[in-house]
Amino acid sequence: MSFPKGFLWGGATAANQFEGGWREDGKGDSVCDHMTGGTATTPRYFTNTIKEDTYYPSHEAVDFFHRYKEDIALMAEMGFGVFRLSINWTRIFPRGDEETPNQKGLDFYRSVFEECKKYGIEPLVTISHYELPYHLMDAYSGWTNRKCIDFFLHYCKVLFEEYKDLVKYWLTFNEINCLIMGVGDILSAGIKCEDGPAQVLGLPSTREQLANRFQALHHQFIASAKAVKLGHEINPEFQIGCMVAGGAIYPYTCNPDDILKAQQDMRMNYFCGDVQVRGEYPHFTNRMFKEMGISIAMEEGDANILKEGTVDFYSFSYYMSTCSTVDSEALKAAGNVVMGVNNPYLKSSDWGWQIDPKGLRYLLNELYGRYQIPMMVVENGLGAMDQVEEDGSIHDHYRIDYLREHIKQMEEAIGDGVDLIAFTPWGCIDLVSVSTGEMKKRYGFVYVDKDNDGNGTLDRIRKDSFYWYKEVIASNGETL
Ligand code: BG6
Repeated sequence: MSFPKGFLWGGATAANQFEGGWREDGKGDSVCDHMTGGTATTPRYFTNTIKEDTYYPSHEAVDFFHRYKEDIALMAEMGFGVFRLSINWTRIFPRGDEETPNQKGLDFYRSVFEECKKYGIEPLVTISHYELPYHLMDAYSGWTNRKCIDFFLHYCKVLFEEYKDLVKYWLTFNEINCLIMGVGDILSAGIKCEDGPAQVLGLPSTREQLANRFQALHHQFIASAKAVKLGHEINPEFQIGCMVAGGAIYPYTCNPDDILKAQQDMRMNYFCGDVQVRGEYPHFTNRMFKEMGISIAMEEGDANILKEGTVDFYSFSYYMSTCSTVDSEALKAAGNVVMGVNNPYLKSSDWGWQIDPKGLRYLLNELYGRYQIPMMVVENGLGAMDQVEEDGSIHDHYRIDYLREHIKQMEEAIGDGVDLIAFTPWGCIDLVSVSTGEMKKRYGFVYVDKDNDGNGTLDRIRKDSFYWYKEVIASNGETL
């Protein structure tokens, strides 16, 4: 078994966690620019106005905005064939509803893409990764408002036309299913809210919240489908994919009630893939909405739009698996978006995420079996604390072990017949954690000198995993 020739190895980031350059060159505020730092035990806060004495991690993040040449050179040194990044919507449209884009914002990403091309690195661009313009939240209550579809389409049109010769691979919405699972109201839907703890984790608790979330999701489905169609008109070579938060979900026991519960929980995963790949809502939708006591507004023509805008490939994030049970006494497991109970066969990361490489093979087979289109694993990795030794070295063998085992299982899945075409582990250069706002939860092959309070030189240091991953890429997955 081996990885196919031309397999795309690389790494992934998102502007709100990586880029910084807040309000520079005309950039407006994104919703995430209003999120304070937090920790594993203290929630991040959302504030409607930016407070002077408060730390907002996205404002500087790790300063890719000024260091992109150095960072892309490091990726090239590892041999990246692909670099996943997101475009910060507010760099292009500071408020989100303008007619004319911000030229300086367009110029920035042009320079980034040209830098990638210099090294033969293919950009994989997420159009929306928790970066909704704050103005669209404030004035329209975000994606609950159908008008957001037109704003998004206009933004996509500008990007597609501007970068049609520089970017081939696009993702419309990051982890679109998080709208109904995890990061929800603020980061994904951009629903107008009061200052307070930001619900990064957790499921909607009220019927109204649920209805709002599914309505917002419907608007994102329509926006995504329209974007896919438009993209293909502008450049038929474009490959445009969906991006879904993936986690394997197992029944906790062989109790048929647990089996059914696991199947139902997995539907939160399939729900989005089914709409974006098959172009229609899945068979279980009506009953699910009925049991939730919600209904959503759809316009005439929406069904056609979904059919005409199906994606070219399926991409997903994978960090962990979890178990479902009807037993309310079972021990809850931690997770950013995948939440269930602890699996006694698995170990957990320092943040309580259960490590399950075989779950990746399982999920790849489930997804490919269902959709039969090319697959990309566009996020995976171990969030861990790193120690810089006196000589400046960083021995992150735990990260190497995690990735090695996951790569082995991807290889198995390819052997099973899955058409897997790319792997971009998360936070290839250390960046801000989305769930906790921390820096100390690191994923990178490259260490960034910055702490949880925002102090540090921002210097980049190669970890042991950097040299390891370089070999993995050079050998196309043979040397693990
Ligand atoms: C995914 C997101 O859910 O998980 C990323 O797409 C995020 O934006 C990643 O950073 C890891 O989560 P965390 O909370 O460790 O940053």
